[in-house]
Amino acid sequence: MALDTAQGREPTPRVSDEAVDDDGFLRDLWYFGAVASELKPGEQLHRLILGEPVLIGRTHDGEAFAMRDICPHRGIILSTGRMVKKDGETTVECPYHGWRFRKDGSCAAIPSLTADQAEAMDLAKIRVRSYPVHESQGLIWIWFGADPEAAPDLDPPRLDLPEGARVKMVEREVFNCHVDHAVIGLMDPAHIPYIHRQWWWRTEKSVHEKAKKFGPVERGFSMLPHRPSSNSFAYKILGAKPETEIRFQLPGLRTEYIKVGNSFFTGFTAVTPTTADSTTITIVVYWKHPVFEILPNAILRKAITTFVRQDRDAVNAQQKGLAFDPKLMLIHDADVQAKWYYKLKQAWRTHRQSGQPFVNPVKPATLRWRS
Ligand code: FES
Ligand SMILES: [Fe+2]
Repeated sequence: MALDTAQGREPTPRVSDEAVDDDGFLRDLWYFGAVASELKPGEQLHRLILGEPVLIGRTHDGEAFAMRDICPHRGIILSTGRMVKKDGETTVECPYHGWRFRKDGSCAAIPSLTADQAEAMDLAKIRVRSYPVHESQGLIWIWFGADPEAAPDLDPPRLDLPEGARVKMVEREVFNCHVDHAVIGLMDPAHIPYIHRQWWWRTEKSVHEKAKKFGPVERGFSMLPHRPSSNSFAYKILGAKPETEIRFQLPGLRTEYIKVGNSFFTGFTAVTPTTADSTTITIVVYWKHPVFEILPNAILRKAITTFVRQDRDAVNAQQKGLAFDPKLMLIHDADVQAKWYYKLKQAWRTHRQSGQPFVNPVKPATLRWRS
C-alpha cells in the first residue's frame, strides 16, 4: 500500500518502503505482554506477539517469565501443557512427551531417557527461546530484541502514576489490520466526530477549531497538558478544571492522563502487533476519583468498549478498501501525528542499525484542526 501526502508540511514516509521487505514491526523494544492480574502463580497463557507464539507464565513463587510457545522436540504448543513445581522449581511441562523447561528456557528433564542416557546428555543445551520480562504497575512487559541473545538495553516503560495506583479495569479488542493502521486510527483527531459521534462525547454541532500544543517525549510525543475540549459531556462530569495530557511512545503505547485536583484517571492503551494483519488493543485503566468510585463500573466499561469497537469497525472496513492497494494521503495538521509516528519508527530503525544515538524527530509544535 502506498501512503502519500498532499499539502502536508512534512514529507511522508511511504508505508510500502518498510512493509515490502519485513513485517513493519520494530524490534529492540519492550512490548506489552499481559496484565499482571491475568496470571496467578503456577499459571501460563498463550499470546501471539509480533507474529511469534509466546508463553507467558508465572512461577509458583510469583515470578513472571516468557518463552517461545513451541516445544523444541516436536513443535507442540507448550502452553497447552501444565506447569509443575518439583524440588522447589517451577517448570513448564510439554503435554506431548513431558519434557520440562525452566523459566529461562533450558530443558530440565526428558522423561523418556534412562538414567544413564540422561547422565550422558547435557539437557540444558536444549533450549526454548526465552524473553526478558519486567513486571511493574500491574503490567507485564516483554523485550523483543533483534538479537534473541542480547540483553535489553532500555529501561521498561513506566507510566506516570501515583505510588500504589492499581489497575481498575482491562478491556481488549482485536483489530484486523497491521499495527500501523491501528496506531494511526487511534491518534487521528479528524475521525472523532464521525466514528465516535455520540451525545456524551461529540456531536456534529460540537465540532469546532482546536489548537493543541505538542512536544517530544522519550521515543514519542505528547499532546501537552491542557484543559480538555469543552465539547464533551464526559469531561464535564469529572468536575472542576480537569487537565489532560496524551502521550504516545513507541512501539504503540498511548497514555491519556486526566488530573482533577488530587484525583486522577489514566487510560493506558497498548497497541500490540499480533500478526501482520491483526493487532491487539489492550486498554488498562487506573483511577482515583470520587466520580469513578460511585459510577458503576459497567458504565465506564460500556463507554470504553463502545469507543474501541467503533475504531475496530472503522479499521476493519478500511481493510476492505486497502485490499485494492489504493494510494493514501496524510493531510495537514490533523495528520501530523501519523507522520510523526512513521518518522519515529524510521528514527528508531536508524538508531538501532547505526548504533548512533536515537534522535527524536518531533519538534515542539502547535497543531490546528477542526473536530
Ligand atoms: S513435543 Fe514436547 S516433549 Fe515431545
Ligand atoms: Fe477512535
